[in-house]
Amino acid sequence: MSKSLAIIGGTGLTQLAGLTISNAHDIQTPFGAPSAPVLEGELDGMRVLFIARHGHPHRIPPHLVNYRANLWALQNLYATDVIAVNAVGGITKNMKPGTLVLPKQIIDYTYGREGTIFDGEFAPVSNVDFSYPYTEELRDLLIKSSGKVGEKVLNGGVYGVTQGPRLETAAEIFRMESDGCDIVGMTGMPEASLAREFKLNYASLSLIVNPASGKGRGAITIREIDENLAVGMQKVRRILGQVVSD
Ligand code: HPA
Repeated sequence: MSKSLAIIGGTGLTQLAGLTISNAHDIQTPFGAPSAPVLEGELDGMRVLFIARHGHPHRIPPHLVNYRANLWALQNLYATDVIAVNAVGGITKNMKPGTLVLPKQIIDYTYGREGTIFDGEFAPVSNVDFSYPYTEELRDLLIKSSGKVGEKVLNGGVYGVTQGPRLETAAEIFRMESDGCDIVGMTGMPEASLAREFKLNYASLSLIVNPASGKGRGAITIREIDENLAVGMQKVRRILGQVVSD
């Protein structure tokens, strides 16, 4: 079966520059409404789907995103591959603001989120394998496409997913680092495991927008986050443009 690509835009990517929209699907799902209409259109001449994870304009906090509805909607519009764009904080040495990362692993610190479709109601109870949470072929494609447009992307890393919406304490980041986390964000889960349950290929293109708590000079400021988002999302856009044509 041929690939059909969907992009989940995170903070700083509520709209996809250059997307020629042919349809805005306002869908109801068995799990309620998605974060926003799913946009169907062409990016650099190729069909893609796009959804703004936090709504457009940005209004839904990470713990209230209806991840199940978003992925149900993408699957029902025939997506096979999902690229998630995530803004994150950097924890370990090479994880500097402005850097793009393709994480390979996840540690989930979230709680209370609706995180499965195998709930005995929508679908029978089942335990999906999640040893390797991201799809290797899609990660490879992202690496290849990034190389072609000359954007550096770090291949690998552990994404620690926190509940938010507040940022972490310095001690929490210290603990996450000793757990093995390289980056920290609030939206990586349950999105990744739901993608697995829906049998969708899934990878995260994570943009570091600040040093994690206790790793920078002082408090984390919205200003530095916004500055890194503005520059970094242009790079993300270039990579996505290449991915669709590869
Ligand atoms: N922590 C959690 N989520 C984030 C951060 C952070 O430092 N930066 C961007 N999203």
